[in-house]
Amino acid sequence: MKNSLFLVLSVLFFSCNKPIEKNQLLQNRIDSLEIKLSETYKPGFGEFMSNIQIHHAKLWFAGQNKNWKLADFEINEIKENLVGIQQYCKDRPETKSLGIIDSAMASISNSIQQKNQKAFQKDYINLTNSCNTCHQETKHEYNVIKIPETPPFSNQDFRLNERK
Ligand code: HEC
Repeated sequence: MKNSLFLVLSVLFFSCNKPIEKNQLLQNRIDSLEIKLSETYKPGFGEFMSNIQIHHAKLWFAGQNKNWKLADFEINEIKENLVGIQQYCKDRPETKSLGIIDSAMASISNSIQQKNQKAFQKDYINLTNSCNTCHQETKHEYNVIKIPETPPFSNQDFRLNERK
């Protein structure tokens, strides 16, 4: 009788305990994954901006050379970086001001599609102004963007490749 009671109790004990053990194991794995996730490298706001700076400069020389395919490529690179900020810099209050650039981006995309150099030049100034408006709004007014005078790299040809 004593023995069978012991048996029943131990069955009960183990059957109740098993799920708890399992839960604890899962919790441990979640905890360690959370730690890993928080330590994963994420690009910062400034890194996205430095990328945008390069593509903003290249965009000008693409437009000056009427290389509309390249201009389209560069504007999409800027867009990708803006999306990256939305995705990875949610914790930065400045991200809320990103919309300042939207209408300027839409206008210049349009003049690139139209292959309209006059409109492109006007829209490029507009785009550059919107960069600076956001820098002012986010208290980074000391970061002043302007139309570039020289291409950012000497190893890239911005002229149309006529051989194709
Ligand atoms: C959200 C509004 C916003 C818009 C729009 C914006 N910027 Fe910025 N920019 C910032 C903020 C905030 C920083 C500071 C980032 C940091 O903390 O490192 C910055 C920094 C920069 C820097 C300095 C990066 C460095 O580390 O040296 C450059 C260059 C730059 N932006 C270029 C541009 C260009 C070019 C455009 C337009 C095509 C633009 N930005 C549009 C908010 C903006």
